Amino acid sequence: MIMHVLHVVGARPNFMKAAPVIAALARRGLRQTLVHTGQHYDVRLSDVIFKELELPEPDVNLGVGSGSHAEQTAHVLVGMETCLLERKPDLMLVYGDVNSTAAATLAAAKLLIPVAHVEAGLRSGDRTMPEEINRLVTDRLATWLYTPSIDGNKNLESEGTDAESIKFVGNVMIDTLRKLLPLTDRDDLPRSLGVMNGSGTRPFVLVTLHRPSNVDDRESLERLLTALSDIACDVPVVFPVHPRTRARVQAQGLSWSRIKALEPLTYLEFLTLQRRAAVVITDSGGIQEETTFLGVPCLTMRENTERPVTVTMGTNRLIGHDTERMKSEVRAILSGDCKKGSVPPLWDGRAAERIADHILTL
Ligand code: UD1
Repeated sequence: MIMHVLHVVGARPNFMKAAPVIAALARRGLRQTLVHTGQHYDVRLSDVIFKELELPEPDVNLGVGSGSHAEQTAHVLVGMETCLLERKPDLMLVYGDVNSTAAATLAAAKLLIPVAHVEAGLRSGDRTMPEEINRLVTDRLATWLYTPSIDGNKNLESEGTDAESIKFVGNVMIDTLRKLLPLTDRDDLPRSLGVMNGSGTRPFVLVTLHRPSNVDDRESLERLLTALSDIACDVPVVFPVHPRTRARVQAQGLSWSRIKALEPLTYLEFLTLQRRAAVVITDSGGIQEETTFLGVPCLTMRENTERPVTVTMGTNRLIGHDTERMKSEVRAILSGDCKKGSVPPLWDGRAAERIADHILTL
């Protein structure tokens, strides 16, 4: 019987996944410990989002910070070993595919502590992405695999995972989105950005790009900024900038030109814009899912996705690194040629409840 659950979060996309699970387990009276690895430490990438999601203060902060992949992974591994030996949970929950997820899983597996992975089974097949390595390591070592979509079950089964350990629960990030969507009715942010006035929202493009494949190489970063700036001749282009992207733009001496480059937004601020955007251009994983749920057209600047259901059922289009296609797709969407999507099964706001119910049976 599980009496004590320890959750590990590290980077921004983990927080919205953990929040509903922690709340669902709290309603069932389980003892819980929250560990923040400190992979993300900026106030706007971490602290403010914790408050908006009503996450409890972390019981432990490992303070690992930035570094190479090996350094970051190693610091989490060492920190988690000590933490797990002290706290002795019956089960550790990890979320998504960031470095903290894989490193914490390895630490627990060595100590024979069972691990449950929330958002298991996703595969892009692209091992040049660090997240794909993190997914493979985490799923191989986890005891329980909670999948957000049925393709996750198929991927795990084809890798030889025992079907009994795979549970299709739905998408926990959509639990959070559904809960907090009513708080994004306020229009002060869109007004201050000039994308809304008395007569409603003006069409605008919302952009997030931070993957190494888009922002680390000067040529590709410059091509993207030039294309976005061209689009900004016709419609406002709003770009909340991840610190790693800002650092690359600065280091390469590139300019934002007509693009409205903002500091990273909080969860609620970003959702406020996302639901109103005419089109979203991104390389994020989670935003492909959120736009599908919201019915907002999404152009993903990647060659592949670990979230194929957003393409087969949702509003997502994979356009690789083709900036000419990006411009023509934006023009088409603005003239009304939009992909109509539907919401995938079990993206119903109750995924965390299903996880909590399963944990109580262990
Ligand atoms: C991480 C995840 C990625 C996720 C993203 C969301 C991995 C491998 N990647 O990428 O899957 O989409 O989070 O944001 O785990 N930095 C700051 N302040 C911070 C954190 C980072 O300035 O609070 C800067 C640092 O220069 C750092 C760089 O961003 O070196 C990269 O941070 P890191 O946590 O390594 O990866 P992300 O790019 O944020």
